Amino acid sequence: MEDIAKEETLQLRNRHVGGACKLFFASDPLKIVRASGQYMYDEQGQQYLDCINNVCHVGHCHPDVVEAGYKQMQVLNTNSRYLHDTLVLLAKRLTETMPGKLSVVYFVNSGSEANDLAIRLAKHHTRGTEMLTLDHAYHGHVVSALEVSPYKLRQQVDDSHPPPDHVHWVSCPDVYRGKYRDRDYPGQDIGQLYANDVRDVIHKIKQDGKNVSFFIAESMQSCGGQIILPQGYLQSVYKYVREAGGVCIADEVQVGFGRVGSHFWAFQPQGVEPDIVTLGKPMGNGHPVAAVVTTQAISDSFRDSGMEYFNTYGGNPVSCSIAMAVLDVIEKEHLRQNALDVGQYWKAKVTELMSQFDIIGQVRGQGLFLGIDLVKDRETREPATEEANTVITRMKEEHILLSTDGPYSNVIKTKPPMCFSKNNVDHFMEKLTVILTEVTTQRTNTNVNSSQGVSNGLTGGNTDVINKDDGDINKNICTGRKSMKVH
Ligand SMILES: Cc1ncc(COP(=O)(O)O)c(C=O)c1O
Repeated sequence: MEDIAKEETLQLRNRHVGGACKLFFASDPLKIVRASGQYMYDEQGQQYLDCINNVCHVGHCHPDVVEAGYKQMQVLNTNSRYLHDTLVLLAKRLTETMPGKLSVVYFVNSGSEANDLAIRLAKHHTRGTEMLTLDHAYHGHVVSALEVSPYKLRQQVDDSHPPPDHVHWVSCPDVYRGKYRDRDYPGQDIGQLYANDVRDVIHKIKQDGKNVSFFIAESMQSCGGQIILPQGYLQSVYKYVREAGGVCIADEVQVGFGRVGSHFWAFQPQGVEPDIVTLGKPMGNGHPVAAVVTTQAISDSFRDSGMEYFNTYGGNPVSCSIAMAVLDVIEKEHLRQNALDVGQYWKAKVTELMSQFDIIGQVRGQGLFLGIDLVKDRETREPATEEANTVITRMKEEHILLSTDGPYSNVIKTKPPMCFSKNNVDHFMEKLTVILTEVTTQRTNTNVNSSQGVSNGLTGGNTDVINKDDGDINKNICTGRKSMKVH
């Protein structure tokens, strides 16, 4: 399945592909030539268990999805200025999965485009200028989405994208390592403590004579380190934002389409109804199709601006057929239920492991979205970044693909295709147990040696391979350079 040898592929990539595009496992990159279900295969036919691909949602190269695209390509592909059944049926079907007022769809091609359009909709509808986003959030690579993505802005070293004054970073409501920690506020409503900060920021905006346009957040924060928002947080924040005349955007680009298991959308367990929802990655199972779903009123404000919205590829019949097939497979194969069952099983298994390895500080997640927070010390919760890096490097050697995330890249994250099975979990657990034993033994030896004055490098494996989900593999630990901006 190779056109050229792996070494040549790498050389050509280094020569002709932009250096800002990073490879997973940079010092020993994988060449993947085919995939099926939850498995990927390299050029030598070796199989890898894919624990991180939430784009190939219903399984890599699912035959129903492939066939839907192939069939439609044989008949017609054109833009959305012609009437087409699949486009309207898909719009109807998507809105049926959402609260009733979210009844209007705009089709686009990527999560970044979806968030860019959501920002435009909010601006037209509210006429506000001020935007609120969570610290460590990522919402896309286009300029408008980048402006509300502290995750990226924090990484730059040349300050060519200064965080704009109209974007207000509010603390990520991380109850484990954030500003308000569960341990420091026993018995208190931590969601409300974090929401109070948002209320205060809004108050300040008003005092400055400005108006709120929107609040944007993922319904579970993936790039921030698999953060599960505390119950009640979004309810309070949405209330404050709306009272100030703003609208609420839920970014479901990573976490939507049944991944949480209990519901189809990750905002649903939070008991909120967003004004705008953005969809992407899983929607096309690897084919670029995305969407914005909003209310009639917000859509009308946008229409009334007088600017036509035209997107050459957004809503083309091939993309719509593919997205329709994805919805069919989720239903037909009961993948939401599978996410619930396998996710609960997985979380329980890793939680059990905590009694054996105190390097595991916390296990958090919902459905097939899990974060394993590795710490040097359970008391201080100091992030075990190098150890996390070693774990994912060693797991790759065992043919299990994972990534790390969070401000300190110490959270091992899993978000596999939704067909992931309990057997896959058992295999993962077997390898993880072996590797954590290695890592913790090495750590103990290092501590003993260093207390005896012997110098020793801590980790095995390579240390240049921190894998970031959206392609950021820089070993660039967030130092809080821009923390001045966080309210
Ligand atoms: C939460 C979130 N929103 C938006 C995007 C942007 O999506 P895309 O890469 O399809 O433009 C991403 C991509 O990683 C994401 O994780």
